[in-house]
Amino acid sequence: MSVETSARILRILLQGPGPVSGQALAAELGLSRTAVWKGVAKLIGEGVDIAASGGRGYRLIGRPGKLGPSLVAASLSSQWLGRPVHYFERTDSTNLRAKTLAVAGTPGGALVIADFQTQGRGRLKRVWRSPAGRNLLFSLLLRPRLELRSFFRLTMAAGVSLSRAVEELTGLRPELKWPNDLYLGEHKLAGILTEIAGQAQLLDWAVVGIGLNTNAAPAEEKCTCLASCCGRKIDRLALLDAFLVRFEALLDEGLPAEEIRAGWLELNQTLGRMVSVEDRGGRVSGLAVDVDADGALLVETGAGLRRVVCGDVLPA
Ligand code: BTN
Repeated sequence: MSVETSARILRILLQGPGPVSGQALAAELGLSRTAVWKGVAKLIGEGVDIAASGGRGYRLIGRPGKLGPSLVAASLSSQWLGRPVHYFERTDSTNLRAKTLAVAGTPGGALVIADFQTQGRGRLKRVWRSPAGRNLLFSLLLRPRLELRSFFRLTMAAGVSLSRAVEELTGLRPELKWPNDLYLGEHKLAGILTEIAGQAQLLDWAVVGIGLNTNAAPAEEKCTCLASCCGRKIDRLALLDAFLVRFEALLDEGLPAEEIRAGWLELNQTLGRMVSVEDRGGRVSGLAVDVDADGALLVETGAGLRRVVCGDVLPA
């Protein structure tokens, strides 16, 4: 029984409220009654609370509180991005899992999502901590036609899509801090970790990993979460779906460099500030003036314009 099939059953039951007979489900989905029964059993096994009332059919008892592969799949309205779903109640790191899928030749689009990570990873070998079952922790395996040098466009596109998804669902407008963070004011809301592999200057695969504090701010200083800003619990899957729909549109358009850059510029909180960036080549200090089409930060220093490709931006 595939996740897609149980997700289709769940999608119908989520429309609620009344019971839906096994026969009606089978007819609507083009399945046998046995397949429907197996699908319902799979959903129950994933923790979805379903009442099966004799001749009247199946009915959801409340909206599931806990994530599970079928619930995640049933919540997505994107066409291809986010499929198939690989859900883990607990795993080392969704980026590590997605990279394993990439190396095994899995097609682009796959989503790895977890409720808890034991080795959540951030940029520059940092740790990403998040309490179990509260926040969004996921990675996407992508295989876009992109030159290796332009891979950062993926991070920018993901950042813009995520900020817009948050705005749609909460009215809050997170800003983007170069290179890969979402901030609400002075507090970090989300981080993006993009990892890539390729050859002959072309990208083979990319894993875009996102940690978004929806309902709990990790203990780290200067972090925040959406729930504490909005005063209500945030539906993680509605947010994930809003993000995927936007990100998918940019991927389908072939990651248009200028459109992504314009979106990023509109949301950025880095340019126009005096900054100090620890680059591979040492510390670069000056006025952050621009971001080029490949996402490099341009810093006006006393000794001329410097192009910075990675590092942490600190106030100068
Ligand atoms: C950063 O701010 O340095 C980037 C943090 C990225 C964290 C996410 S959580 C889901 C995915 N899996 C990981 O191990 N890391 C990313």
